[in-house]
Amino acid sequence: MLFSSTSSLWELIQQRPAVVEFLEASGKPVWNQLDLSVDAFCRQAGVKTGSWLREAESIPIPKPDSIWSREPLYRIVDYLVAEHRDFRNKDLTRIDFLLDTYSAPIYPDVYQLKLAYQSFKSFEEGLLEHMSEEEARTFPHILRLEACERNATLLPLTHRLSVKTFAMSQGHLAESLLEKMIAEIMENIRKHRDQERDAVTTEKLFRVLEKFQQRLTRHARIENEILFPRAMEIEKRLLKRQNVSV
Ligand SMILES: [Fe+2]
Repeated sequence: MLFSSTSSLWELIQQRPAVVEFLEASGKPVWNQLDLSVDAFCRQAGVKTGSWLREAESIPIPKPDSIWSREPLYRIVDYLVAEHRDFRNKDLTRIDFLLDTYSAPIYPDVYQLKLAYQSFKSFEEGLLEHMSEEEARTFPHILRLEACERNATLLPLTHRLSVKTFAMSQGHLAESLLEKMIAEIMENIRKHRDQERDAVTTEKLFRVLEKFQQRLTRHARIENEILFPRAMEIEKRLLKRQNVSV
């Protein structure tokens, strides 16, 4: 279970952004009482907490081949947050494990792989930081912007809107970090393969890395080509509404 009756609405939205639609459908105010617990919210709405939570948790995560240009931003962010979870809990853990198995005695010359492991660890650190930044600041800001468009009385939390700044400075960070990492790791592994006859695990590592590269590239594309441009358009409209020059 991702959340409980004591989770705040804010925690709910951060972990499962698609829940926004479900919360707003209750007809109760959401955005001006984000600290409220699920339990208190359900009491307000006159519904049973347990069944409400089960329903909220059963909201499906959008499919990777969704037509993103037609999806509301909260569903795009829902997909991206779920993918971050997979990157953290599955992909990075698996690559770490595969690279680490090379310390086994069967591979006496592990120098090249140790270099690959170092490259991977610095990439992992950068990617984790990047994803945390998106989840803590950028995505919540985008969700709020979109909510402001649905509700004219709601205002963005900060007067200084920032999707543009984030997209310009951080938007391609994951991709460039990845490219650097893949190039370094592939080079190290190639050298290692030249030295080792038994390359079964090396091939497996190549395949896992390639798949991860494809997923991360597609993820970055959804952010840079769909999510951020659409959020920036909303920012522009809201700034116009507030008579701030853009
Ligand atoms: Fe991301």
